[in-house]
Amino acid sequence: MPTTAANSKTAILFVCLGNICRSPLAEGVFRHVVEQAGKADKFHIESAATGSWHIGNPPDARMIETAINHGTDISAQRCRQISPDDFYNFDLIICMDHSNVRNVEAIKPNDASARIVMLMDHALGQDEEVPDPYYMEAADGFEQVYQMVFKASNALLAKLDGSAV
Ligand code: 4NP
Repeated sequence: MPTTAANSKTAILFVCLGNICRSPLAEGVFRHVVEQAGKADKFHIESAATGSWHIGNPPDARMIETAINHGTDISAQRCRQISPDDFYNFDLIICMDHSNVRNVEAIKPNDASARIVMLMDHALGQDEEVPDPYYMEAADGFEQVYQMVFKASNALLAKLDGSAV
């Protein structure tokens, strides 16, 4: 739910193309960072896909393994696709790359209030995409993505903790 006087939680939806690699990782890592900071009651955190290919599926096994290696279990998550309701129910829709932003903006209802941003830009002021590890050639692609998302998650909490979305 968006933040109101009656509901002080900031609602954050992480979005990527498939919702099996980057956005489930971001959901899990940001939730972990928030819990470690004792702020779990201040946030509602979910993730979603722009595409429909993997609806109902768990995250990619390589992403689950990388997250587990860093102490975050994302194995219980299941892919869902973003819907028009999300634009009313979330304060912040955080995308992983420019094409996610374009796809999300294309379906945003005109009167909806959610802000649409990119993760690295919003958290760190870096005009950088989180690359899709599903298609990366590097053997350590999933680890690279973890490191980006972990850094951004800490910066995002610091930013949201002190101000509005
Ligand atoms: P994600 O990666 O957007 O980080 O979840 C993807 C994984 C699979 C596909 C697309 C993106 N796919 O088309 O199957």
